[in-house]
Amino acid sequence: MDYKRYIAERIPVEGVSANEICDLLAVPPDPSMGDYAFPCFRFAKILRKSPVAIAEELKAKIPADEVISEVSAVNGYLNFKVSKVGLAEGTLSRILKEGANYGSSDLGAGKTICLDYSSVNIAKPFHIGHLSTTVLGGALYRIFKYLGYNAVGINHLGDYGTQFGKLISAYRRWGNRELVEQGGIRALNELYVRFHREAEEDPALDDEARAYFKRIEEGDAECNELFEWFKRLTLKDVQKIYDLLDIHFDSYAGESFYSDKMQSVIDELREKGLLVESRGAQIVDLEAYGMPPCIILKSDGSSLYATRDMAAAIYRKKTYDFDKCLYVVAYQQNLHFRQFFKVLELMGKEWAKDLVHVAYGMVSLEEGAMSTRKGNVVFLEDVINKCIEKAYRIIDEKNPSLENKEKVAEQVGVGAVIFGALYNNKIKDITFSYDKVLNFEGETSVYVQYTCARAASVLSRAEVPASYEVPQPCDEEAELLKALAEFPDTVRSAAEKYEPSYIARYCVDVAQKFNKFYFDCKILQAEEGVRGFRLALTAATLQVLRNALSLLGIGVPEKM
Ligand code: ARG
Repeated sequence: MDYKRYIAERIPVEGVSANEICDLLAVPPDPSMGDYAFPCFRFAKILRKSPVAIAEELKAKIPADEVISEVSAVNGYLNFKVSKVGLAEGTLSRILKEGANYGSSDLGAGKTICLDYSSVNIAKPFHIGHLSTTVLGGALYRIFKYLGYNAVGINHLGDYGTQFGKLISAYRRWGNRELVEQGGIRALNELYVRFHREAEEDPALDDEARAYFKRIEEGDAECNELFEWFKRLTLKDVQKIYDLLDIHFDSYAGESFYSDKMQSVIDELREKGLLVESRGAQIVDLEAYGMPPCIILKSDGSSLYATRDMAAAIYRKKTYDFDKCLYVVAYQQNLHFRQFFKVLELMGKEWAKDLVHVAYGMVSLEEGAMSTRKGNVVFLEDVINKCIEKAYRIIDEKNPSLENKEKVAEQVGVGAVIFGALYNNKIKDITFSYDKVLNFEGETSVYVQYTCARAASVLSRAEVPASYEVPQPCDEEAELLKALAEFPDTVRSAAEKYEPSYIARYCVDVAQKFNKFYFDCKILQAEEGVRGFRLALTAATLQVLRNALSLLGIGVPEKM
């Protein structure tokens, strides 16, 4: 039984959906006020009544039943008390029965959702700036699948542009096969950085690079072979990180995939009279929408990032017939997305409304910002490895005799990186701190993982009995049960708001409530008649935390 939903469905506010009401229902900080509270303030305006009057009227319409034991109206809030025994029975039996599926649903059955995320640039470092798009996108991908959607993960590779001409030029001048084969992205990046340094002295290099790029475009075999090789090397390097972070894609169609699909977009724009010339370039004027023009072709006839994105959107609609297409990309690109979404709308693509830019804030390391061109970049791989190492040292100190220390350190270190990136509302800029994300007492994944290990340790000493009595739960138990009952709704609203942070915060909330229960109530030593119930509650907590963490891509060690 989903208590919040059960209550939400019984609150009749005209024109407001049960989902919206569900999102407004809160658990009051002081349980004596009720188990759930519904604030009526925001309806005062539309209903032209005071919140106090609204609460009173709603109260009169909601009878108590076997689930809702009491409804009261207090200062503009509608407060609900639920039957705790019913809550306990319903919640525990559902979680233990559904197991790894608890929280999943078929909400998205028959719907397709494309997710463009991570979208790395070939031969460029996979740096800390790509952390958010990768883990946010990965989490959303899992969440939507869990909700029954047909999710299509797309890595829109940055594999097009003059930088590949630069790279070939640099490779021909200063590189060799062995060096690049061994060094991977790092070696390619060094070549790229050197090219920029040397081109400052010798501008002829830029002409050479342009000529090489042209040869790629014209299908020159040698240049394309080099380019494909750079691509393979990059993806091989990046795959190591994807494996650690449990990231998967269904398509790697990148920008160059659209080379031959742009002409039809340009033709259509011209046919529809949207293309105008401006200083030799072909643009779509967006002044009427308060935006600078969207450039479609440069004066030399070359295409742009936006041109390729338009071809990609049209291709995706045709190929996947998506209900929604999400772009998990930093907010720096806000304008880019607004522009090409608008151009597609002007072309009469009614599905342009289904394109969503899921924007997120910047991640920086405590040490400060970095730039690719100058070469002082922080590789994501290094950040992850450093977290794993630090985790190893902490674990080794706390529990030197633990088996599988390497594996546990990997789960803890990787979890710390993911959770660190997902814990805050996605639009916030964050500063990544190793000490903060690895704090055992903080709002961290390791705190949650440690809580899981604690629960697992209890359960390794006693099994949940096949049947048990459910007593009137105490406050700690009731609070934990309410939190566990909220998981399905948390997953749904995380998907609706594209906010995996809801799930990360939820994990910490459940872990805190479990720990309070663990320290205040005896479990193994509890008297008969309570013990079975408490063991079941422990097992249910572990199950829910496992489900929640796995949606974020975080593993749970058995022991810590
Ligand atoms: N490769 C781009 C970058 O790193 C991100 C691409 C995002 N996806 C898209 N369809 N534009 O900046």
